[in-house]
Amino acid sequence: MKIINVRTSRPYNVLIERGSLKKSGELISQVIHSKKAVVITDDKVNSLHADILVESLEKNGISASVFVFPHGEQSKSLTVLGQIYDFLCEKRITRSDFLIALGGGVVGDITGFAAATYLRGIEFVQIPTTLLAQVDSSVGGKTAIDIAGGKNLVGSFKQPALVICDSDTLRTLPQEELSCGMAEVIKYGMIRDEKLFETLEKHDISNIDDVMDSVVYTCVDIKREVVEHDEFDTGERMMLNFGHTLGHAIEGWHNYTDYTHGMGVAVGMCIITEKLCSPELSERLKKCVKSYGLPTSTEAPMSELLPYCSTDKKCDSDSINYIVCEKIGQAQIKKVTVSEFSVLMEG
Ligand SMILES: NC(=O)c1ccc[n+]([C@@H]2O[C@H](COP(=O)([O-])OP(=O)(O)OC[C@H]3O[C@@H](n4cnc5c(N)ncnc54)[C@H](O)[C@@H]3O)[C@@H](O)[C@H]2O)c1
Repeated sequence: MKIINVRTSRPYNVLIERGSLKKSGELISQVIHSKKAVVITDDKVNSLHADILVESLEKNGISASVFVFPHGEQSKSLTVLGQIYDFLCEKRITRSDFLIALGGGVVGDITGFAAATYLRGIEFVQIPTTLLAQVDSSVGGKTAIDIAGGKNLVGSFKQPALVICDSDTLRTLPQEELSCGMAEVIKYGMIRDEKLFETLEKHDISNIDDVMDSVVYTCVDIKREVVEHDEFDTGERMMLNFGHTLGHAIEGWHNYTDYTHGMGVAVGMCIITEKLCSPELSERLKKCVKSYGLPTSTEAPMSELLPYCSTDKKCDSDSINYIVCEKIGQAQIKKVTVSEFSVLMEG
């Protein structure tokens, strides 16, 4: 088993091992002593993986009730959050009990926010079952729900007590979801780790599973380092947004419908690199992106994307932070005015 210790204001371990879901009861018992938990999951993950978790919890003397909500981003809402609070009350969950998020980033974000706020805060464990959640959203302590005004606008920082990544669970993911997570993995290679990028170049979407444990380990370790330096997202953590400013704009242009977050990030990384870096680097990135089933360009005209960039919540009103990697593994954060960014992107 690979173990990464994340030294944030509240330190915790990320455990990475194939088949660890079956042992999760035992692994959790080593960290949390309460014998009562609520598992929060979505309908798809519930039918695929929840029984294994509940069986393992029961084997270790932990009684678990399961709260299931419909899969998809629209469930990361005040309505579902309210239903979770009601369920916790109904099950008489106290401050010494805990929650388990079993699922992708949607489950992790809403469960984390419920854990941060119910009874002013109770423990929670992340068991991420999408690649995106394993390499990104389950580590770092950002939790949130969406409101009418926008995505992730209500949330808090709440570090989990433990994260368990079982790459066997990723085998049931549809290819589109795997590709979506691969966009974040490629991002980590580009911003911090040339060796990881080379590993990605030697594989593709059909065989990346062969090295998944070590890929997840490397990505989580990069995220650990960035988060330890900037737990509350005031500087260096911005580096994790490589490809995201344009990516969010492309998702927005498509009304968040037929375009996944990973597709947006992939195209965002490719456009920034094509505009600002060498043609060789741009070609290398595009080849890698394509081999994981992701697009490298968009039909959306740049002039229509730019207004979405300046409304990104990570920007102040008249400036944009963007990330550029002139060499693989070396990211720089640049701050420019909105009009300077337009010139760079449209030039
Ligand atoms: N907190 C953070 O730091 C952070 C970082 C990045 C993204 N996020 C958030 O994460 C969310 C996106 O996460 P996501 O991409 O995991 O989406 P998701 O949670 O919606 O999962 C994607 C789909 O995969 C299904 N699924 C999950 N695990 C599966 C499995 N093992 N087998 C088969 N199907 C499975 C889900 O039911 C869902 O339909 C967004 O809400 C985003 O805002 C948060």
